[in-house]
Amino acid sequence: CQAAIPADNVPDMGKRKLMNLLLLGAISLPSGFMLVPYATFFAPPGSGAGSGGQVAKDALGNDVIASEWLKTHGPGDKTLTQGLKGDPTYLVVEKDRTLATYGINAVCTHLGCVVPFNTAENKFICPCHGSQYNDQGRVVRGPAPLSLALAHADIDEGKVIFVPWVETDFRTGEDPWWA
Ligand code: FES
Repeated sequence: CQAAIPADNVPDMGKRKLMNLLLLGAISLPSGFMLVPYATFFAPPGSGAGSGGQVAKDALGNDVIASEWLKTHGPGDKTLTQGLKGDPTYLVVEKDRTLATYGINAVCTHLGCVVPFNTAENKFICPCHGSQYNDQGRVVRGPAPLSLALAHADIDEGKVIFVPWVETDFRTGEDPWWA
């Protein structure tokens, strides 16, 4: 009964095709899902997106609205928000109750601890190995080798947007080491 041989092959071929389809589906489905957050991460709403900007987020993960922020944060206030690449970044309120046009990246340039602001000393003092930075984040005592990184803090449609700082570091007059 030779006619049975090709007939047996047909379902095998069918099965193989089905397996290929399933395999393809297993690979392409998750990556399809991942495209959504990936795309939104790189294109947040607001015009800051064009220059690689990112909306500042408060401790609860909400967008920082500049006018609301200034109601609850007085002159000289430095409070951590989530900045570029998720880095903890200080939003600074100037003495005239406006937001500073720069944010200070809180990651210590020595070994990466998050550096708190010490109001009594008016400095950022790293709890890990004692590095100190002035109130604008310029290093004043090691072992940290460099000043804290900066980001522009712009306001777009009422929201605070951090934008990469690629210009001269106004505190040192040098090129930004982080750019
Ligand atoms: Fe800040 Fe070492 S990590 S001083």
